[in-house]
Amino acid sequence: MRGKVSSRLLLLLLCVTSFQVAFGVTNPQDVSALNSLMSQWQNVPSSWNQSTDPCDAPWDGIQCTNGRVTQLLLPAMNIKGKLNDDVGLLTELQYLVISSNPNFGGSLPAGIGKLQKLMNLILQGCSFSGTLPLEIGNLRNLTFLALNSNKFSGSIPYTIGLLSNLYWLDLADNQLTGPIPISSGTTPGLDFLVNARHFHFNKNQLSGTLNATLFSSNMNLIHIIFDGNNFSGPIPDTIGLVKTLEILQLDNNQLSGDIPTNITNLTGLNVLNLANNQLTGLVPNLAPLTNLSSLDLSNNSFASSTAPTWLTTLNSLYTLTMENVQLTGQIPPELFTLAQIQQVLLDSNRFNGTLDMGSNLGQYLEKVSIRNNSIADANITSSYNGSISLINNPLCQFPKYSNNLYCQNQQILPPYTTSLARCGPASCPNSQMLSPRNCICAYPFSGLMVFRAPSFKDISDTAMFQELESSLWSQLALAPNSVYISDVAITGDKYIEANVALFPMSGLYFSASEVIRLGFDLNNQTYQPPAMFGPYYFIQYPYQFPGSGSSSSISNGAIRSSSISKRVIAGIVLDDGSAPQPKVPKRFTFEELEKFTGNFSHEIGEGGCAKVYRGYLTNGEAVAIKRAKQGSMQGAQYFNKEIELHSTVNHKNIVGLVGFCHERGEQLLVCEYISNGTLRGKLEEGDPHLDWRRRLQIALDSARGLAYLHELIREPIIHRDIKSTNILLDDSLTAKVADFGFSKLDVDTQNGHVPSKVVGTPGYLDPGYLNGELSNKADVYSFGVVMLELITARLPNETGYTVRDIKTAIDQYDQEYYGLRAMMDPKILNQAKHIGLRKFVQLALACIEEPASNRPSMNEVVNEIENILGTNDSMLHL
Ligand SMILES: *[C@@H]1O[C@H](CO)[C@@H](O)[C@H](O)[C@H]1NC(C)=O
Ligand SMILES: *[C@@H]1O[C@H](CO)[C@@H](O)[C@H](O)[C@H]1NC(C)=O
Ligand SMILES: *[C@@H]1O[C@H](CO)[C@@H](O)[C@H](O)[C@H]1NC(C)=O
Ligand SMILES: *[C@@H]1O[C@H](CO)[C@@H](O)[C@H](O)[C@H]1NC(C)=O
Ligand SMILES: *[C@@H]1O[C@H](CO)[C@@H](O)[C@H](O)[C@H]1NC(C)=O
Ligand SMILES: *[C@@H]1O[C@H](CO)[C@@H](O)[C@H](O)[C@H]1NC(C)=O
Ligand SMILES: *[C@@H]1O[C@H](CO)[C@@H](O)[C@H](O)[C@H]1NC(C)=O
Ligand SMILES: *[C@@H]1O[C@H](CO)[C@@H](O)[C@H](O)[C@H]1NC(C)=O
Ligand SMILES: *[C@@H]1O[C@H](CO)[C@@H](O)[C@H](O)[C@H]1NC(C)=O
Ligand SMILES: *[C@@H]1O[C@H](CO)[C@@H](O)[C@H](O)[C@H]1NC(C)=O
Repeated sequence: MRGKVSSRLLLLLLCVTSFQVAFGVTNPQDVSALNSLMSQWQNVPSSWNQSTDPCDAPWDGIQCTNGRVTQLLLPAMNIKGKLNDDVGLLTELQYLVISSNPNFGGSLPAGIGKLQKLMNLILQGCSFSGTLPLEIGNLRNLTFLALNSNKFSGSIPYTIGLLSNLYWLDLADNQLTGPIPISSGTTPGLDFLVNARHFHFNKNQLSGTLNATLFSSNMNLIHIIFDGNNFSGPIPDTIGLVKTLEILQLDNNQLSGDIPTNITNLTGLNVLNLANNQLTGLVPNLAPLTNLSSLDLSNNSFASSTAPTWLTTLNSLYTLTMENVQLTGQIPPELFTLAQIQQVLLDSNRFNGTLDMGSNLGQYLEKVSIRNNSIADANITSSYNGSISLINNPLCQFPKYSNNLYCQNQQILPPYTTSLARCGPASCPNSQMLSPRNCICAYPFSGLMVFRAPSFKDISDTAMFQELESSLWSQLALAPNSVYISDVAITGDKYIEANVALFPMSGLYFSASEVIRLGFDLNNQTYQPPAMFGPYYFIQYPYQFPGSGSSSSISNGAIRSSSISKRVIAGIVLDDGSAPQPKVPKRFTFEELEKFTGNFSHEIGEGGCAKVYRGYLTNGEAVAIKRAKQGSMQGAQYFNKEIELHSTVNHKNIVGLVGFCHERGEQLLVCEYISNGTLRGKLEEGDPHLDWRRRLQIALDSARGLAYLHELIREPIIHRDIKSTNILLDDSLTAKVADFGFSKLDVDTQNGHVPSKVVGTPGYLDPGYLNGELSNKADVYSFGVVMLELITARLPNETGYTVRDIKTAIDQYDQEYYGLRAMMDPKILNQAKHIGLRKFVQLALACIEEPASNRPSMNEVVNEIENILGTNDSMLHL
């Protein structure tokens, strides 16, 4: 019965397929439209061959349904030319994305208005000029309109107000003039766009007042980014009606009048930037804005006052910037003790008296700038090791201080750059770059990423940018660590910019379709950076396809392939030569290891099967050497397998294998030495650096390591002994998963080879595993127990008591501690916030669910912890 049904289904599928193929031939109208467009374009992909069918071949960047072109995607292909009116013939088009082609432009033709089904129109980063046609208002199905970073001029067409499905409206970085159109009678205006979430109009020459009608309680905007225009007049009080707002950026305009108190109703606000206007009066009490992470009120004409006391209640604040706003009196010490504060920038005020930073500095504080004030003395907490600048204050005239660092220009920490240290000195041929993943040269997909409203301003913040890297490679489905970030800078607009290079999974090049996919995901905001980075746009650099040095209209297949193979050969030669290889474990002699360890004199750990010693290689590098105990040795073939296994593993959250030794009846592994010991040790020590946020980060690091073992390598590995003593912390407290002593290839178990003896550690052991089931879900279980341990600092024991106690203690109604106060590690109990505690506990409990099939995968665990960490802290206060 069953067999019959499925064979019938199969037949049906075959029929449907051939039916589609018959209609796969492109509609003649679309063919002639494409031919017309193409006749004015240079550098189209080589697959755009007029003697083939665009839908059937198919051409790169073209997608069709029933012979009609529905998508035309050519981001960063270095297309040169213009968009002519015939684009309007592609009447079934839903996506038109020709972004990041700096030599593509001209005016936007009125024919665009014929694309009634268009949903995404993305032309950012080209060289379009002239006015925007009124016909754009015919694109009623448009949800995503990104025309930013061109040279459009004239006013914003009022017809955009008709695009009622619009979700994203980006007109930034053009030369647009005039006011924002407001509806009047039957004439539409942007106040109609109640479904829009994003108004990005920054960096134009827009003028006029912000009309009160623009904002209403029907609006659902989350980002209003209007900075860098010529808006004047007051901020309308109706802004307080847009309760969904998270970012309000009105800086660098000519706004005047008092800040309306109604702004205090915007309790979801993360970023408020009103700097460089002519605002007057007193700043209203912003204490209700408990989610605020960045506040900039600099360079306004507020009435002189002392520092408002409500400033010291903004517990989510990362960056406080109030320069040149006539503040007087004493700087409240509480400003420096705010839980999240990183930067306090108060230059050019009239603060006087003694600078007292209090005794309980916020642990993230790293920059204080109080230049050009009237500070006469200072009492700076000795534990503070960030920067303070007091240049141009009276105290710098006293001999006591004049030579002090505070009174001199201080060296600024260098901006973040992805480290290539492990690649050693190496260089690449022109246009190629070293991939941080494997230290091999390749042609990256690269571009400038611009963050227009970041919540933080510390561009040397390694953790923050490493988050960005991993969000890039994971969301864009690239290999781990194949992202290189460089040239990070804060621009004059206080935007953060960075060059981002992405590297191909294998080979020297991305294919055209890969370039299109990445360009699309980065242009239509499919990729989302960590929340602290705020909204971004990405302008790619034209991709260097093979043979693209010459004019690509000569796309002679033969010439092409020979030039590719030359490059490939060059690449291979290079790989064998100067560019360092991924580390291959080295075979050591037993004598060498005796020498490295001083005859195994410095023992640093002991497990059931092995002792661990510290040693130093001849180059001085510290290593941990694991020596199997007599009687615990594995068969030679298993030991070799383990070496092989280790050597395929290369991840920053996995302890690396440096080498091994297998002689004289001994088995030894030489591993990276991880300076800060085990997670367990740190928890027992009660190290104050392990605050809640750091614990989340440790969970994330180790989850990433495990996810890598489970899901990202060719032969997946089950660790089988995840516990807090197998999670090591390096100098910067980055967690690394250690000890594959018990690991077995996942594939072994897929063939039903359940190991004969149960291994693992009581308390962390999946109960199902005791019954002989082994899957990577056993690691997920153990990881769940470690997560709970991060909360309680207590060791689990055989009876699984931690798990049980936690389950019974949970109290849904306890906003603060989720019922776990009594069980929590006292070391983190009194910290201001336990962001995402509830979610974290729920995730841990999901990890230890029965049956194992209900547990999340490690990848899902990673995503969830990223969410917890990435989402704005205070919003996730539970
Ligand atoms: C275009 O396609 C035809 C037919 O497949 C082929 O013969 C020709 O070489 C192709 N032209 C180019 C420039 O690739
Ligand atoms: C817009 O899309 C809807 C479905 O999403 C469709 O029914 C409608 O016909 C489209 N409008 C136009 C003008 O094509
Ligand atoms: C706001 O817009 C409406 C409609 O266009 C107009 O009548 C009114 O004068 C504008 N208000 C200001 C202050 O410009
Ligand atoms: C703004 O706040 C003032 C004072 O609370 C109030 O009178 C006014 O109605 C508010 N405006 C709006 C648009 O809600
Ligand atoms: C804040 O919003 C409430 C309604 O949600 C309103 O009653 C109140 O007047 C608003 N306050 C201000 C200052 O606008
Ligand atoms: C600081 O300035 C305020 C206002 O200008 C003044 O009243 C106060 O006496 C000054 N304090 C000191 C210690 O100079
Ligand atoms: C400096 O600050 C510390 C901590 O706030 C305080 O205990 C100490 O008394 C202060 N010293 C002076 C001289 O004010
Ligand atoms: C980006 O494009 C995808 C379709 O590929 C769509 O599902 C998604 O909603 C788009 N994102 C936005 C923000 O429009
Ligand atoms: C270990 O961690 C601490 C923070 O607890 C840090 O200050 C120290 O530099 C780290 N490194 C070593 C080698 O202990
Ligand atoms: C597990 O811990 C609980 C609570 O500390 C204790 O009562 C129990 O005896 C422990 N069980 C074992 C087997 O150690």
